[in-house]
Amino acid sequence: MVKVGILGVGTVGASVANILKNNADIIEARAGKKIVVKSGVVKNLSKDRGVDITLTDDYLDIINDPEIDIVIELMGGVEEPYKIVKEALKNGKPVVTANKALLAYHRYELQELAGDIPFMYEASTAGGIPIIGALRNGLSANHIDSIKGIMNGTCNYMLTKMINEGALYDDILKESQELGYAEADPTFDVGGFDASHKLLILASIAYGLDAKPEDILIEGIENITQTDVTFAKEFGYEIKLLGIAKKVGDGVELRVHSTMIPSSSMISKVDGVMNAVTVIGDCVGETMYYGAGAGGDATASAVISDIVNIVRGNHDPMLGYKKSLESGLRLLSKDEISSQYYIRLEVDDESGVLAKIASTLGKFDISIESMLQKPSKKEDGVKLLFTTHICKEVEMQNAIKSLKLLDVVHEGIAMMRIEK
Ligand code: HSE
Repeated sequence: MVKVGILGVGTVGASVANILKNNADIIEARAGKKIVVKSGVVKNLSKDRGVDITLTDDYLDIINDPEIDIVIELMGGVEEPYKIVKEALKNGKPVVTANKALLAYHRYELQELAGDIPFMYEASTAGGIPIIGALRNGLSANHIDSIKGIMNGTCNYMLTKMINEGALYDDILKESQELGYAEADPTFDVGGFDASHKLLILASIAYGLDAKPEDILIEGIENITQTDVTFAKEFGYEIKLLGIAKKVGDGVELRVHSTMIPSSSMISKVDGVMNAVTVIGDCVGETMYYGAGAGGDATASAVISDIVNIVRGNHDPMLGYKKSLESGLRLLSKDEISSQYYIRLEVDDESGVLAKIASTLGKFDISIESMLQKPSKKEDGVKLLFTTHICKEVEMQNAIKSLKLLDVVHEGIAMMRIEK
């Protein structure tokens, strides 16, 4: 029999305990041993957790208990779980975690410390979708060309409602909080930070890249308006918050932002709280993974898959490499990113204006792909909408600064990146 201890018995922890009990037959058959929860750690012992396991409020009861074979970290946060997980590893205990923030900041130190002790984290990225296993094992023959994913259910739910039902941003944010999709602090979701943590984890497995959230381009969905949702449709696009990792020459772009993607693409059809990740490998071509990115049972499904793997004796290298990778790949800076862009401006409706805008874009080597002009609510104004060919981010940022200085351009230029 294998005994596990759970640090943090919230929604996911309770699901882990309940599934280990309710699906004990299939789990035992697959793992080769019976797996039981010996105890769980909670901050408030008087709260009912809906589980019949022994609870304690002292984490040492788990990490120092010689009977506990595997520690399951489901606490959330960064520094406290980091400290506790380090102690568990020092005690020689295998660790399973669902904590993306912990890994976004400390995955390389934890890998070093874990050494040969199993350290698994399938649930940290895209909840129930087995994307870590797919990248680490299933696609291990491939150089990875790109990873693109909808990795935050809250943003996808909000965007779906805005696109399909014309819902307003503030109303739908409130609704997603009430439905329990959003993180305790929703800026973590809508600002793109949650997705960036997941992207960094995947980029480590795909490219061996060590980067922190501060090193990459992260934008959220806060500035998306119904106007852009409507115009995206006119250009044949849907708007999604994507995490993108892409090999370009000897560099890798890592970025999270609202993105216009063709309405005909498979990932544009992923609606509501669902997540999806597409990975292109040089041997396999394009692969796609779809499923629930959050929720107690879906996340617990991933946690338990890690436990089963450990019980089976699996010693997968934590970030997927048995020896260091001399790929020469470097993280491209934000300025070095290249993309196609959508820009929306409000301008004076008079002769010569379009020429001034086109010439400003031209100065920054930005070539226009298509253009729409629409009436504006403002008297004497019109809306100009452009999509561009691929150009450098730094040129686009500089072009926007210059456009803002033109006296014919009104306040508020909207910009969004396009991925085809
Ligand atoms: N708040 C996250 C989401 C939960 O909306 O996807 C899972 O990380």
